[in-house]
Amino acid sequence: MLVALLCICVLGVPSGVYSQGQVAFFVSRSSDASQPEDTLEFDNVHVNIGNGFDPSTSSFVVPFTGHYLFSLSAGVASGSGLEIEIVQPTSVASDIYRLNDNTNGIDTRSRIVILDLNDGDVLTVRTGTPVVSGDEALLTSWGGFYLEEALDAEDMSIFAAATDEIYDDQLAPVMFNDVMINVGEDFEDLSGAYQAPRNCTAFISYTVAQQAGEIAVTTLKGDLSPTELSRMDTSHNGLDMQSRTSLLELVVGDFAYVELARGQVYSDNRHMSSMVGFMYEPAENQQTAFTVHRTASLNVGEDPIDLVFQNVRTTEGNLWDEGQNMAVAPQAGIYFFQVDLSAQQHNTYGEVNVDLIQIVDGSPSVIGGVRRTSKIHNERDGLSRGFFVYMKEGDQVYLRGNPMSGLFSDLDVVGYDLPRIKEQILFKGLGHNNANISCNKRLIINAPLKMIRYIPPPLN
Ligand SMILES: *[C@@H]1O[C@H](CO)[C@@H](O)[C@H](O)[C@H]1NC(C)=O
Ligand SMILES: *[C@@H]1O[C@H](CO)[C@@H](O)[C@H](O)[C@H]1NC(C)=O
Repeated sequence: MLVALLCICVLGVPSGVYSQGQVAFFVSRSSDASQPEDTLEFDNVHVNIGNGFDPSTSSFVVPFTGHYLFSLSAGVASGSGLEIEIVQPTSVASDIYRLNDNTNGIDTRSRIVILDLNDGDVLTVRTGTPVVSGDEALLTSWGGFYLEEALDAEDMSIFAAATDEIYDDQLAPVMFNDVMINVGEDFEDLSGAYQAPRNCTAFISYTVAQQAGEIAVTTLKGDLSPTELSRMDTSHNGLDMQSRTSLLELVVGDFAYVELARGQVYSDNRHMSSMVGFMYEPAENQQTAFTVHRTASLNVGEDPIDLVFQNVRTTEGNLWDEGQNMAVAPQAGIYFFQVDLSAQQHNTYGEVNVDLIQIVDGSPSVIGGVRRTSKIHNERDGLSRGFFVYMKEGDQVYLRGNPMSGLFSDLDVVGYDLPRIKEQILFKGLGHNNANISCNKRLIINAPLKMIRYIPPPLN
């Protein structure tokens, strides 16, 4: 269904002194954790700008009051469920649950959350199940950054919302009516939609849960390229969750929302189904963003294949090199990448084995991967993963499909009947860097016409 990669360049200074407000970290585990841990230890510290992460306690100590974005990823052990959460002072959903244990190999899960935190708050990660990590893939990782540093402080638009109900109204927006963060008041709880306050690039990430055996196909709508997150697989014998992240090019007044196309979205008071986002508009810095998609499935045989993306939608700040199918850092900085993939129904190519690779001075090395070796799934479903990568100017990042991977993608989005691009495999990036260039607030690229407008349904 999809491959998404999303990237935010948080910082432009390669080393030495960082100014106040520059906070980003990315840590991972070099080995599995075979039992639940109240404080999961992360022994690999890949990025720690602003020293917010304390390696001695494996905790993140909030340096400034404000909004932070976190990406938590976990490797799920064979035949096991998953329970992992960010332990935090607020009650905003940040946990990943999977009661499904009908698997015969490992799998990958991730979730993005935005939290409103106070100076001095201490955050750790707790697990209630074993997790898989280590090797090159480093499946269990945690990263985050100070979101406000990447936005125009005068005019921020940030939201986090969730639902605590089961939702099954077909072809209607999922009502994320428990709104926890709404800076700028652009998220409308009555419709479950984010409304663009002006022409902008919006970052949207959402998570939906499914009960045992239930399918859930959702589409993220708002601009000309709706994307889909679909679990058609029914092999799960308990609750499961999937996430998807997108960049939308919105015109003022556009609504961005998650629509249920098939099946059912499960949630309860643990807020397993949620939606977060922000308007990506750096104050003094140039935007850096790309959004690229695959328009067809890919089976990788015995030799690895570098993933090629046929549909390039958002390219700002000269980050995406279409000829090479790579992100090329326009300048040094920390870039945030989010990868979303879809597994095919299990067959010869039933695995997901994809690596994010960085080329530094001509030498490639694996940053981490997305893995599914379980072979029980009987239809497609989604996997996701986030990475924070320090890149020097000119460093390249790309995705490699390893042998026997089967990635699903097509041009069909359920419930969408206007002229459109319908990508299923998506590679996406968004960044900002500290170039001394004033912000361009007219961000619409490649979207001459907006044909889709969402009108919220009547209240009764
Ligand atoms: C950055 O912008 C400031 C204010 O416009 C200017 O004074 C300074 O010279 C610029 N620095 C560089 C390296 O261009
Ligand atoms: C916003 O985008 C629309 C559609 O591209 C364009 O017509 C309009 O002029 C833009 N508005 C601003 C303020 O840039």
